[in-house]
Amino acid sequence: LQVQGRSHADDSKVPQQEKAHFLAQAKKQKSSDSEDLEQAQNEDSEEDFPETNKVPESANFKAEKLKIKEESLLLNKLAKVVEDALKKAFPDADSSKIKIEYPSHSDHGDYACNIALALSKDLQKNPRQVAEAIVSKIEKGDRIEKIKIAGPGFINIFLAQSLLDSEVAKVLEQGDEYGKVQAGKDKNIVVEFSQPNIAKPLGVHHLLSTIIGQSLANTFKFLGFNTLAINHTGDWGTQFGKLIYAFKQWGNKEVVEKDPIQELLKLYIKFHDEVEKDPKLADLGREEFRKFEEGDKENRELWQWFVDESYKEINKTYDKIGGIHFDHMHPESFYEDKMAPIIEKGKELGIFSEGEEGALVIEYEDENIPTLPIIKKDGSTLYITRDFAALKYRLETWNPERILYCVDVAQSLH
Ligand code: ARG
Repeated sequence: LQVQGRSHADDSKVPQQEKAHFLAQAKKQKSSDSEDLEQAQNEDSEEDFPETNKVPESANFKAEKLKIKEESLLLNKLAKVVEDALKKAFPDADSSKIKIEYPSHSDHGDYACNIALALSKDLQKNPRQVAEAIVSKIEKGDRIEKIKIAGPGFINIFLAQSLLDSEVAKVLEQGDEYGKVQAGKDKNIVVEFSQPNIAKPLGVHHLLSTIIGQSLANTFKFLGFNTLAINHTGDWGTQFGKLIYAFKQWGNKEVVEKDPIQELLKLYIKFHDEVEKDPKLADLGREEFRKFEEGDKENRELWQWFVDESYKEINKTYDKIGGIHFDHMHPESFYEDKMAPIIEKGKELGIFSEGEEGALVIEYEDENIPTLPIIKKDGSTLYITRDFAALKYRLETWNPERILYCVDVAQSLH
């Protein structure tokens, strides 16, 4: 698949202070996770998912679970049947605790519900009595064949054969469309995945992102969401200045054309080797990038050529995987003209302030968080500048319910 693996993440370039900060965060997170777990076990509750994504308190938005409730699903219809019976048997009982599950053994029916056990304390009755009272009120209709109370008070539901027959008929009739729902109707979801970098071989983590991302996008589409699959390829940044410099200095068009990605990678590595010997080269690379950003014709043409050659290679890998589809190719370059408004707005709001030698930075109140540069002292932009612009663009253009980034951790350590 033309993919390069890696056996470890190279974090040698992460500044010490930053590393210490994130490690401390991770430790905090870990201990609060285990507290959560303990609490959940003590509560003995049947809560669906523990919230793992903790949003910093300072953020003025609230992370909510994405609610995907589809009334047409059999599971939800059965929950409704049990709920109606519960309301008749115990009008004041908390019906939000109803949960229909798949029993592990088919002797226990097709579906099971432990609501009687969950409510017995509240109702001050033994769970079996509660179960009997609920079951006596259940209207079986033509979907349910029989209901049995098992063990301490589990309600086991057996479906009618006629229902199973008609479902099988539907599967045969609808094929891949079977089970399609409209739970996400009129809601937009952005799934950003794959995001390889131009002029570099795909890493195994890009492959992971591609496959997980495409699977998620397909799943959301099936659930009726208006799903936007986006590829945010890395085609901008100082590395192109280095590559342009290296190509002008040591490159050969014919050689690169024969095996573009490998040859460009060689040039990029050579640049880094040479910088070790002569640190002044770093500035020359940055200078080429600045020129490029300002529209220098030769540099733009070289860049376009790197980009075109890279896509040819990347598409070969996508073709081999099969089924990879993006609604939008929005590489970093797409945001070239969308960064200026973000910068103005950030200044206006006082979020971005002047840093050393005219750079633009974000300074955090928490001194453990390193100052984040937004614009370099030579006026050129950074990765994060484009990411901010991308976020703004997505929020304003699509008003999404969710933005999912399928990024492997290794990627952020590049
Ligand atoms: N191209 C980046 C990399 O390979 C990943 C991009 C992640 N997406 C984003 N919006 N920052 O490391």
